[in-house]
Amino acid sequence: MSKIWHPYAQMQNATPNYHVTNATGVLLTLADGTTMVDGISSWWATIHGYNHPHINAAIQAQAGNFSHIMLGGLTHSPAQQLAQKLSEITPEGLEYTFFSDSGSVGVEVAVKIAIQYWLNQGIKGKHKMLSLSKAYHGDTFKAMEVGGDDDFHITYKGILNRDFVLPAPQSTFANADPQVLKQDILALEQMLQQNHQQIAGFILEPLVQCAGGFNMYSPAYLRAARKLCSEYDVLLIFDEVATGFGRTGELFAANHAQVSPDIMILGKALTAGYVGHAATIVQTFVFEGFYGEGYDTALMHGPTFMGNALACSIALAGIELVEQQGYLEKIKAIEQQLKTALLDIKSPFVANTRVLGAIGVMEMTDSKYTKGFVDFAKQRGVWLRPFGQYIYTMPPYIITAVELTKITEVMLAWLAHLE
Ligand SMILES: Cc1ncc(COP(=O)(O)O)c(C=O)c1O
Repeated sequence: MSKIWHPYAQMQNATPNYHVTNATGVLLTLADGTTMVDGISSWWATIHGYNHPHINAAIQAQAGNFSHIMLGGLTHSPAQQLAQKLSEITPEGLEYTFFSDSGSVGVEVAVKIAIQYWLNQGIKGKHKMLSLSKAYHGDTFKAMEVGGDDDFHITYKGILNRDFVLPAPQSTFANADPQVLKQDILALEQMLQQNHQQIAGFILEPLVQCAGGFNMYSPAYLRAARKLCSEYDVLLIFDEVATGFGRTGELFAANHAQVSPDIMILGKALTAGYVGHAATIVQTFVFEGFYGEGYDTALMHGPTFMGNALACSIALAGIELVEQQGYLEKIKAIEQQLKTALLDIKSPFVANTRVLGAIGVMEMTDSKYTKGFVDFAKQRGVWLRPFGQYIYTMPPYIITAVELTKITEVMLAWLAHLE
């Protein structure tokens, strides 16, 4: 029996995990010889697929030089080049990158930066965070506290210190009802008006609240958040750990709204799903807000593996692939295919279907209608892993139309099976 403690699993009665012996392109090969098309990119990270020759070559080249050196007191080209590249491709004004080893830690760093920024300006009492219900920002402690997803963190209800929480925006991504949008924005405005003296930052997943239930909301909300946060001196933080690098159809979700946050977090696809790494990127005024004579105004944070040279080399190679001609068009084609396959579904078991970029979601009317789906899909050569009442796909962007059809057909076949 395996000695691994698996994630999000009741280990007393967890079903055995499928044993992967090879992963190449979008295919996972199992120990029993079967293959599965990966419909969720190893939690949305392997955007270029597995075992990619360009990325493999970058790792080998860097490993032959050195794999890691500390960033305290030392520096190296892969980290410098990646920080430079991120300042070029992220929304305007985001200039300086603090590296860390996972999305959750990237979020912790963003929150620390937001709180300390105001302390450094000599402004007291402005150390609380504003976040949204249905948000998911990771499983470390502060990340849970700015998360609003009780499915993941129900055990800690009553223990977590949630500062200020707004209802998740109701306005839809496309054709938002003006009244609903107005209400969303009014709630934010009232919150900031009443509490801005205590609020250091507003953290949100722009456009799609992924793990909290795939709520897809209006870019107009982001524009309003930008305007109001500037007006009320609250730092705006976009957590693009899930949405970054094309997932919503633009390179970053912020691009749909053409706004720049003060702080942005990237992870997952940043390193193409090869190794864990994250980037917390800030505007110049935020970076300079930590200038001073002593350590009291410096950012006292330093994960051992920040700016790991292998991770940075992988990220640079991955971004080269992203920058290739026609990359966003590929994602648009995935979006179109998902829309055609999923949006018109009529089933008593389905509450709603929605698609944005390379995200396709089938929200069931009850989580009981997802039980048994993983095995059902595996038997048909597809790897999907629902959570709650959501059966969803977020495939690697290299997926072919035929492979994507295999995924959506399994989702549809499941509905027929339920009847
Ligand atoms: C939006 C968002 N932020 C943060 C995280 C946490 O990232 P990690 O699992 O790398 O710690 C996730 C993970 O799913 C996420 O979706």
